[in-house]
Amino acid sequence: MFPELRTEIPGPRSRELAARLRRVESRNVTLVGERWPVFWERAEGVNVWDADGNRFLDFTSGFGVAGLGHSSPPVREALADQSRKLLHAMGDVHPAESKVELCEMLSELTFERWGVGRGKVILGNSGSDAIEAALKTAVLHSGKPGVLVFAGAYHGLGYGALEASALEFFRAPFAAQLGGFAVSVPYPYCFRCPLGHGGVLALEGGEFPHCSNGCLEELERRIVTELSKGEIGAILVEPIQGRGGDIVPPRDFLRLLRRLCDEEKILLVADEIYTGLNRTGRLFACEHSEVVPDLICLGKALTSGFPLSACVGRATVMDAWPESAGEALHTSTFLGNPLGCAMAVAALREHARPETAAKVLAAGRHLREVLQKIPAATVGDVRGAGLLVGMEIIRADGSPDQALAAHCVTEALQEGILLLAGGRQGNVLSLAPPFDLTPQESDFLAGRLAGML
Ligand SMILES: Cc1ncc(COP(=O)(O)O)c(C=O)c1O
Repeated sequence: MFPELRTEIPGPRSRELAARLRRVESRNVTLVGERWPVFWERAEGVNVWDADGNRFLDFTSGFGVAGLGHSSPPVREALADQSRKLLHAMGDVHPAESKVELCEMLSELTFERWGVGRGKVILGNSGSDAIEAALKTAVLHSGKPGVLVFAGAYHGLGYGALEASALEFFRAPFAAQLGGFAVSVPYPYCFRCPLGHGGVLALEGGEFPHCSNGCLEELERRIVTELSKGEIGAILVEPIQGRGGDIVPPRDFLRLLRRLCDEEKILLVADEIYTGLNRTGRLFACEHSEVVPDLICLGKALTSGFPLSACVGRATVMDAWPESAGEALHTSTFLGNPLGCAMAVAALREHARPETAAKVLAAGRHLREVLQKIPAATVGDVRGAGLLVGMEIIRADGSPDQALAAHCVTEALQEGILLLAGGRQGNVLSLAPPFDLTPQESDFLAGRLAGML
């Protein structure tokens, strides 16, 4: 169950591969250092083996992709079956049957399940791609180019998605090429309230913070000020902010956005690329607030390991797109790739089982509990929903301690634990393990982290 390390980390094979890669890959892509990275060779469930035969516990699900576990058997079988028949089709011209099945299933699991009629889908190849399909839908639907986004948002790095992402690190080098259509307002971040209502942290229903909601009144004022300028056609939001620091907003936050969108007749776009598909203990995170968005973007766990994403919208909203006369306005060579579609159909069948969400809620509660018990003043906050968990690492004065978080990530690797740090200041240990994580594995992580913090 626990990691098995046969060599020092990284081992000789990983070091050799890193040296070769360093020569031929842009130096900005893979960080190569003395103690980083290891090269993955195979993976199963919660475990990853590297090229030197070391086994790691994966607390990242490989960027949130492998919620169902690495190499999920039903997904692997669907891939194998499909690969014997057809590797590629002509997505927007002569598609494969699996695209039909996937779009039907996405409609059933979202808008049909929410009781508001059919959903319609635009498939893509990455999360960023799904966001850009949503941005285009919004402007076609409303005729207004502006999009309201939130501080700390991460929606991907393609130019449309990057414009909507509010993390300066990614935007600044390319600011001169961005479209300038996004306006950002604060995200309700209870641990460091940007709206003057700090120190809350009473938990409602176990997962969601809830304060006087004074923060939401102030936020409403700021949003209304932006909307009153008449340029904004959509609000784009992560129902729980992922890379921005695993920030769970008050439950009423999404309800407020829904109301404002209804009043202004603009679109609410939920970016559930990270939070979707049971990651937070509900099939979709917006269901915690009982809010139905107009568009929902999915990616990551959708296929369990193939670059495929989807923007799903209410049929009436999606019909803002004109009927194709032979040339699609938003498509790509690999749209609706049959391998990806077959994998997504198999993955969605697993996600649709109610036991999947229940398992995530139970495992997430235990993980948060054991992390909360770590007796270290450097742990400022442990938060999350389901198995999307953030641990905010701080200095004695409460300021973000990015160096200690980075130290934990590197030390954890030496102990056989795969971890990532995120957050606006890089000081949040970000945990998104596969759903089959056992209590013993959570205890193991907490024990190791306790020794580092
Ligand atoms: C909430 C959210 N949206 C969009 C993206 C971008 O997805 P991709 O990296 O597949 O383009 C991510 C990636 O981490 C994400 O977390």
